[in-house]
Amino acid sequence: MTAVPTIQLNDGNTIPQLGFGVFQIDPAETAEAVAEALRVGYRHIDTAEMYGNERGVGEAIRASGLDRSEVYVTSKLNNGFHEPDEARRAFDDTLEALGFDYVNLFLIHWPLPTLYGGDFVSTWQTLEEFRDAGRARSIGVSNFEVAHLERLAAEADVVPAVNQIELHPYLLNPEVDGYGREHGIATEAWSPIAQGAVLDDPVITEIAERLGRTPAQVVVRWHIERGNIVFPKSTTPSRIKENFELFDFELEPGDSEKIDALDRGEEGRTGPHPDSMAYVPG
Ligand SMILES: NC(=O)c1ccc[n+]([C@@H]2O[C@H](COP(=O)([O-])OP(=O)(O)OC[C@H]3O[C@@H](n4cnc5c(N)ncnc54)[C@H](OP(=O)(O)O)[C@@H]3O)[C@@H](O)[C@H]2O)c1
Repeated sequence: MTAVPTIQLNDGNTIPQLGFGVFQIDPAETAEAVAEALRVGYRHIDTAEMYGNERGVGEAIRASGLDRSEVYVTSKLNNGFHEPDEARRAFDDTLEALGFDYVNLFLIHWPLPTLYGGDFVSTWQTLEEFRDAGRARSIGVSNFEVAHLERLAAEADVVPAVNQIELHPYLLNPEVDGYGREHGIATEAWSPIAQGAVLDDPVITEIAERLGRTPAQVVVRWHIERGNIVFPKSTTPSRIKENFELFDFELEPGDSEKIDALDRGEEGRTGPHPDSMAYVPG
């Protein structure tokens, strides 16, 4: 098995570039899906309090026989708990659900600029406490736009280690991605295959046929070659394995540029826009 590359973060920690995402995996099925991913060789799991399945992630890691230190675990703050005291309680709950005394990475899931008086800075400063206590080895953000990152740069001490954003061939998100690259914030690409929407694209299928690979492998390999951190989700064992088999081939010259040219800008976005996203679980 070829090793998954690691990316060095701005705080000195490293993260496996390829992981396994568990968004929309039923809590009752999560432990089995994560167990399968760990058997295949994934050592990085991306969950969130709002996915409701942190418990299954922790169970699968413990049952795998792997040492805690061998698996990189990310979770995220629920949109309902941005006020500092709520965030502290929510972070305790995340560690309790996972059954661990630390996470490798903890993120503000959404900036929610229209809620909490637009104050995501005090939320971020609360994450700084978690990092100082060693309970979150790294801290970062998700779905932050350039203006949100600029505000943190002006008002907070710690630069986020990562920004986890929607990014796939139909939404290159170049301004946010570019800001991160210029300021040492690693880009994590969510919905890396646009939940399957890019897999029938003729540009992708032509490359896949030429290289003797699947469309998903071509797209995830494109992310890897761009330097993105990526964690495709699947509950299908054959796809979990397929999405991991990326390190014994490369795209050919010109392929990346052809995939880049599929960008549809805002029309390619599949999820909410971070500036207007205001969902809080009931
Ligand atoms: N921070 C955020 O706001 C945010 C938002 C969304 C996602 N995320 C993170 O990013 C991760 C990945 O994104 P995502 O789950 O939205 O979407 P995704 O990974 O782009 O796509 C998942 C979908 O594609 C299918 N699929 C997976 N591998 C495939 C393959 N090889 N061939 C064909 N179809 C395949 C899966 O089906 P089956 O499961 O049926 O196989 C599932 O329907 C999430 O799990 C989560 O960790 C974060």
